[in-house]
Amino acid sequence: MDYSDTVTKKSRAIHEDDEEKEFHQRMKSFNGLSAKEWASLSMNIWSDVSSPRNDFQKEHGAVYPVKLVERLLLMYSRELDNVFDPFLGIGSTIIGCQNLNRNCIGTELNPEFAQLAQQWLVENSGIFQNTLNLKYLVVNDDCRNLDKYIAKNKISLTITSPPYADFIQKSVEDREKVHKTSLIKHSNNSTVKQYSDNEDDFGNLPYPEFIKQLKVVLSKNYEITKPGGYSCWVVKDHRDTKNKIPYIPFHSDLARAGEEVGWKFHDLIIWDQSKQRKLILLGYPSIFYTNQNCSFIVVFRKFI
Ligand SMILES: C[S@@+](CC[C@H](N)C(=O)[O-])C[C@H]1O[C@@H](n2cnc3c(N)ncnc32)[C@H](O)[C@@H]1O
Repeated sequence: MDYSDTVTKKSRAIHEDDEEKEFHQRMKSFNGLSAKEWASLSMNIWSDVSSPRNDFQKEHGAVYPVKLVERLLLMYSRELDNVFDPFLGIGSTIIGCQNLNRNCIGTELNPEFAQLAQQWLVENSGIFQNTLNLKYLVVNDDCRNLDKYIAKNKISLTITSPPYADFIQKSVEDREKVHKTSLIKHSNNSTVKQYSDNEDDFGNLPYPEFIKQLKVVLSKNYEITKPGGYSCWVVKDHRDTKNKIPYIPFHSDLARAGEEVGWKFHDLIIWDQSKQRKLILLGYPSIFYTNQNCSFIVVFRKFI
């Protein structure tokens, strides 16, 4: 046996030791991650989760990327866990769950979006391909009825993004009237549109009522979550300069609303979207405003 054989054997033994160590770490951790994987997912500013939109995502216009869902799933849940999305849209949360072997149920008020979610779900991995007997359910209903479908303490993780009160309507009006020819209308690839005329649609509620109704959802969400479980809300802050309100801190209002119904405000992640958006000239030449090119992920946890 020559020297190179000895080196190869030694490095194989080290490699096997490392693999065994990682295996034990994965068994020990609540989310099935090794210490190395855990550390690599622990950054609090994300700028690498955006991805090009497919036809389903273009139909909706206000979706989050499946990559973002998958990262949250890896961090806050393990395989076979139950995941929930109260504002399902066209189902990005379910697709992430299918890809990473979690069960998922979501509620969506708009029947067209619920239908699209159902189609995407089937197209993503086809019927009969689910060998682990996982469950995926799209419910076309108001999320305030979530307790009709889910029993207490069943959900490990919620991932969601609510409408942002009636700010969408304001942006649509703004684009129609004020920014007909400005950069706002043409840049950022954004397709701002109202979700529906339904009075139960959170996108039609004025901000104070919106926060009140979100509290109802947060409270029921708390009840169906297992002790120790997590709830992640992807949101954006806003401005209402027309009414002289320079900054509406939605992410902190949401965090407070969650705490008032029992959640612990556990973490805050910044989703940096500046690479996907062009800078717009705001307030020039009299008042300086920054461009709001990031979203926040407010993470709640239920005490054990
Ligand atoms: C920001 S979008 C969510 C998009 C989703 N994350 C995705 O990637 O497809 C918010 C969704 O909440 C829905 N919605 C509004 N009010 C609702 C309610 N009361 N119950 C359930 N869904 C509602 C809207 O129709 C819209 O599709």
